[in-house]
Amino acid sequence: MYLFILVSSLVIVFYLVWNFQWRYRGYWKNQGIPEVRRKGSSLKEMVSIMWTNQGSHAKFVKMYNENPGVSMVGFYQVGRPALLVREPGIIKDIMLVEFPKFRENLDVLDPKNNRLLFRNPFFSRDHIWKNSRKRLTNAFSSSRLKTMTEDLRKISGKMDDYLLKKLEGKREIELELKDLFSRFTGEFVANAGFGIEGYCFHGDKHPGSFHELGKIMFAPKSYGILDYLLQLFPVLQNIPRVSFLPEEVDRFFMRTTKGVLDMRMSESSKRLDFFQLMLDLESSKDGTVDVHAVASNLLTFFFDGYETAAITLSFVGYHLAEHPEVQERLRKEVKDSLSKCGSMTYECLTEMTYMDQVIHESLRMKTTFGGFVKICTESTVLKGSDGLSCRVEPGTFIAISNTALHKDPSYWKDPEVFDPSRFDPSVKSSIPKFTFLPFGEGPRICIGMRVGLLSAKAALFAILNNYSLEPSPRTQLPFRMDTNAFMLSPIGGIWARLKPLDKSNGPR
Ligand code: HEM
Repeated sequence: MYLFILVSSLVIVFYLVWNFQWRYRGYWKNQGIPEVRRKGSSLKEMVSIMWTNQGSHAKFVKMYNENPGVSMVGFYQVGRPALLVREPGIIKDIMLVEFPKFRENLDVLDPKNNRLLFRNPFFSRDHIWKNSRKRLTNAFSSSRLKTMTEDLRKISGKMDDYLLKKLEGKREIELELKDLFSRFTGEFVANAGFGIEGYCFHGDKHPGSFHELGKIMFAPKSYGILDYLLQLFPVLQNIPRVSFLPEEVDRFFMRTTKGVLDMRMSESSKRLDFFQLMLDLESSKDGTVDVHAVASNLLTFFFDGYETAAITLSFVGYHLAEHPEVQERLRKEVKDSLSKCGSMTYECLTEMTYMDQVIHESLRMKTTFGGFVKICTESTVLKGSDGLSCRVEPGTFIAISNTALHKDPSYWKDPEVFDPSRFDPSVKSSIPKFTFLPFGEGPRICIGMRVGLLSAKAALFAILNNYSLEPSPRTQLPFRMDTNAFMLSPIGGIWARLKPLDKSNGPR
């Protein structure tokens, strides 16, 4: 037995050393592609970043900034050849023109261990990706978004009650913005997705709270180590219980879906919401419902919409607190729009151009999604305007850093300055294509972009109509991101002081 363990350990160590140090030595140099110099042992480098997720995005930003003037840079990921693409023209080829050759994302989840999440378009490929994408695209059409605005109006009211209760007897309160806004986005998925109460503005620890569930789902953990090990040994996907999400998340979604399904069966009239659409799409002719598929689509709505929109909102809140003149101008747009529309309607939200500018500039400054990794699926040649020509083979890992592109001074004047006028309708079209990618691009562009922006606008509308935001010393600056989080997550959170507006600021 001991001998077996010893021999297996030696084989694994030999494999790792061979894979990391020798197997692809000089791969990029031989193709004439500039290569990121490995500092020290690549094994050491692997160990230092395998514990992190956002850490790999930080690594791509560093590589991008250290290699100005070249269209692409070779490096090694898990010991294998990988390419960081810097030039927008080649990014366009990868995400749009040559999409069929780069159609896969890095993580494709195994159905056995990820019973619900494997259908999420972000984690799937081929027909599973196509089917799920089609279903969700249907669900976020303009007419459905209009219906969802009614939910957003009600949730804004719940958020206002929650804030007023916290303010009772005080002139101001200090709030962690991600906590506040993830209550809003969690309640939105519960209301607009399932058609039920999400208990996000109730006391913490409510057993049906979607906010509590979100905290479990997105608690910083070593996604990086799981990702790294799966890239190194894809066979690990087959080990039972190696799942991306804790099992209680699947149980919560199955239980809630079954509960809502029973309720719907007993109702005499059909509703026109997200849940009903999924129910219709996942029912066969004989009336049998694929409950797993329905629960899967709802999990996608939650997994992809809850955290992304809450992070986006908390950074917008931070920027508004830091820039009172922008906040004032945006509040004026909110008040004008309220006078014109009478209440928060779909039309008035979509027409708010300054709101759009502010959200887009905030997304440029702090990119919710740190970057993209695409996998080459068919051999092809990528050509840069600097004369570099690179043959890319199937399986090559392609990194695109939207975080770095958004701060590149070749495309943005004073990139560290928060300036919503960059997105003014009169100049927006002059932003070079594929340099601003908060939602991705091409056939894999974010399906929820419009619903994400709509919910963000509704939450900001509700806050700015009634409250002002001011900076809080509790925010730890400069931001340091938690490298173990799945998405952008500043250590210590983002805090702001919130004060009710005077009556002189117009009607509530
Ligand atoms: C402001 C909030 C949001 C931001 C910043 C955001 C950003 C992104 C980004 C960067 C991607 C990756 C695109 C790529 O790989 O090329 C993505 C994918 C995706 N997003 Fe969003 N997202 C947001 C809200 C939402 C919402 C509300 C939903 C609702 C369901 C959603 C659903 C998806 C899905 C399903 C994908 C995978 C698409 C595919 O691979 O085909 N997102 N999102």
